[in-house]
Amino acid sequence: MKSIQIDRYGGPDVLVHREIAAPEPKAGEVLIRISHAGINFMDVHTREGKYAKSQTYTVTLPCTLGMEGAGEVVSVGAGVSDFKPGDRVAYCIVWGSYAEYAVVPAWRCVKVPAALSLEMAAASLFHGFTAHYLAHDVGRLAPGVTCLVHAASGGIGQILIQLAKRVGATVYATTSTQQKAEVARERGADLAVHYENGRFAEAIRDATQGRGVDVVFDSIGKATLRDSFRATRKRGLVVAYGSVSGSVRDLDPIELGEAGSLFLTRPRLADHLPDAATTRRRADEIFAALLDGSLKIGVAGRYTLADVNEAHAALEDRRMIGKPVLVINP
Ligand SMILES: NC(=O)c1ccc[n+]([C@@H]2O[C@H](COP(=O)([O-])OP(=O)(O)OC[C@H]3O[C@@H](n4cnc5c(N)ncnc54)[C@H](OP(=O)(O)O)[C@@H]3O)[C@@H](O)[C@H]2O)c1
Repeated sequence: MKSIQIDRYGGPDVLVHREIAAPEPKAGEVLIRISHAGINFMDVHTREGKYAKSQTYTVTLPCTLGMEGAGEVVSVGAGVSDFKPGDRVAYCIVWGSYAEYAVVPAWRCVKVPAALSLEMAAASLFHGFTAHYLAHDVGRLAPGVTCLVHAASGGIGQILIQLAKRVGATVYATTSTQQKAEVARERGADLAVHYENGRFAEAIRDATQGRGVDVVFDSIGKATLRDSFRATRKRGLVVAYGSVSGSVRDLDPIELGEAGSLFLTRPRLADHLPDAATTRRRADEIFAALLDGSLKIGVAGRYTLADVNEAHAALEDRRMIGKPVLVINP
């Protein structure tokens, strides 16, 4: 089968197009013919080696990239009773979706409703799950809560805005361009501002009568984190869930005290998808919202295995608005 692998870490040039044997499902696993795969910044981070030592997302080289996919079950391993050949399924946080077939632990899979396309299923789970746990479990958004969403036109950013508005929170957003700010407003942001080299913090303080927001969702890291502190109210929460601009490696906890006794957390999706029941509960809510039209996910671009390099480059160059997908066996 066709696959995209990495043998070493680096830029887009380390992506290798390789013919490999289709995997076989072991006990508890399902074999899926991948129709579509989601393309995520996580794949870029992994390609660059950021997860080389991760115990949460273990990478073994050579690694078939891609940790989100949707398709049809081909066969199941011993002990799998929830799925059968022909079922339409989707999953995330298992390596190997940049390929024609993937084996996935059955407990990580969810059934895709008949009315939902496999493309949308592949585009929605990784970012949808993330926005879901960030909004509900970490940020505990509710009516009257104020939050700031960075990279608001990005894959997670757009969903986070919509989930936050659904529960009645006030949402401030940051983006790098006017076009991206428009997207954030369309998704429901009450105010969208540019980063302006950190001056977004003043804009947010002005908008909150000097108080600062209750929660900041920061996926950018090095370029924004300290200014995120300045945009947060006393004893507020900063959720550092990504680091697309690089990691902050020199943080002294005293800075959190100086910034107003802030709480800082670095959560991970894997810890918020501990079992099949949680995975299915979150997927049910995301799929239902997509089907009733209250959640919108825009496909930012469709790529094939042959031009996956271009998708990575577009992500890294900040050209992507929304969610890119790989079309493999439509
Ligand atoms: N902790 C978790 O559970 C979890 C789960 C999933 C993903 N993540 C992380 O969340 C982050 C965002 O992932 P995503 O897939 O949703 O990406 P994304 O937001 O769709 O794309 C990244 C966006 O970040 C902004 N950005 C700011 N500085 C950037 C820079 N130096 N280089 C590239 N982009 C920059 C860009 O928007 P502007 O141009 O508007 O700034 C860009 O569109 C990644 O770090 C990912 O690993 C974390």
